[in-house]
Amino acid sequence: MNDQRGGRLRALWRGLGYLLGSLGTGAATPAALPVLLVPRVARGWASWHRRRADRLLRAAPSGPVRVGTGRVLLWVAANLACGLVFGLLAVLCAGNTLTTAVTVPLWWALPPGTRAGGFAAGVPLTGWGTALTLGTAQVAGFAALTYFVVPPLARLHARLCVALLSPSAAERLALQVAALTETRVGAMNAHGAELRRIERDLHDGTQARLVSIAMRLGVARDLLGEEPAAVAGLLAQAQQGTEDAMAELRAVIRTIYPPILADRGLTGALAALAAGAAIHTDLDTGPLGSVPAAVEAVAYFTVAEALTNAAKHSGAGRAGVQVRRNGDRLTVLVTDDGVGGADASRGTGLAGIRHRALALDGAVHVHSPVGGPTTIEVELPCGS
Ligand SMILES: Nc1ncnc2c1ncn2[C@@H]1O[C@H](COP(=O)(O)OP(=O)(O)OP(=O)(O)O)[C@@H](O)[C@H]1O
Ligand SMILES: [Mg+2]
Repeated sequence: MNDQRGGRLRALWRGLGYLLGSLGTGAATPAALPVLLVPRVARGWASWHRRRADRLLRAAPSGPVRVGTGRVLLWVAANLACGLVFGLLAVLCAGNTLTTAVTVPLWWALPPGTRAGGFAAGVPLTGWGTALTLGTAQVAGFAALTYFVVPPLARLHARLCVALLSPSAAERLALQVAALTETRVGAMNAHGAELRRIERDLHDGTQARLVSIAMRLGVARDLLGEEPAAVAGLLAQAQQGTEDAMAELRAVIRTIYPPILADRGLTGALAALAAGAAIHTDLDTGPLGSVPAAVEAVAYFTVAEALTNAAKHSGAGRAGVQVRRNGDRLTVLVTDDGVGGADASRGTGLAGIRHRALALDGAVHVHSPVGGPTTIEVELPCGS
């Protein structure tokens, strides 16, 4: 019961603060109009109001406002009207409570027969009895009005703000399409870059070796029967070349889809990575369910690169790998307690992780302040 009353009192204070703020911004609107007509400023102004409204309604912060400029300007006008009206009502309620509380005790000094103000306007104050009853009733009346009117009024203002500054279903769809187009372009670019890399690897490595094998075999055929010793040497070189080409081919295949994933699944493959890491690594994987091959590959490469980095650069004594599946998202978290200062612009490994994740519409967060520790988090959508 006390908790409930405490909660209502807090709501009253919050509502009062909110409405006073709205009164201030509403009153400032006419003077600020020239700058508020600049779309970027109006958007910032609207985002600030939206954040306040979210806080008052205890809703999750919704980030910057993403509605059209027309709607933002409509909000500026609505805030001018509602901010002023609602804010003045709040001031009237709270202000009267305060002034009556202060002035009622002074009624004793008034000449007898003076008439009361406020709710009891006009009633003559004939003596102590009427002064005390009417005075107390005044304070109680205004306090009750404030208590019951201010919080709903503040919520009404906040709801209006949220309603005007939230994208409509059509606008949300348009935003989604824009975001998807952007990520699709990113995915296509990343995919293109990956294809070019594989093409270069096969061209410069495997193909070059196969060409030299073919040449050696051709020379060996020409020398067949004439110089058996030279032929034997050429065949031996060709055999060595074949083995090298196969090793290269395996290496390229591993960069596309590590065979260990097919053999042992993601959890097993990560366990092998952790066991083979140069620093002690704690692995913690929850139930992962079925994960698409492309996502498994990105998760695997992320952990492999992050552990290699931890060993190469961090000087850490321990690393940790945590993999979780939450609905249709897979989260991979690699931490080390080393010196920090990871910077994607200084190499290709971290940038590669980012490209691979973005290609799948995922996200990468690197947190590595100088002095450590380092955390690399990759979030990947994996359908459900
Ligand atoms: N865990 C870490 N702790 C401290 N510094 C790191 C860590 N990871 C990366 N770094 C720093 O960030 C830089 C970029 O890392 P990145 O993996 O992109 O490149 P690299 O490891 O130097 O080379 P490569 O391209 O072979 O991966 C590194 O050179 C290193 O200075
Ligand atoms: Mg690296």
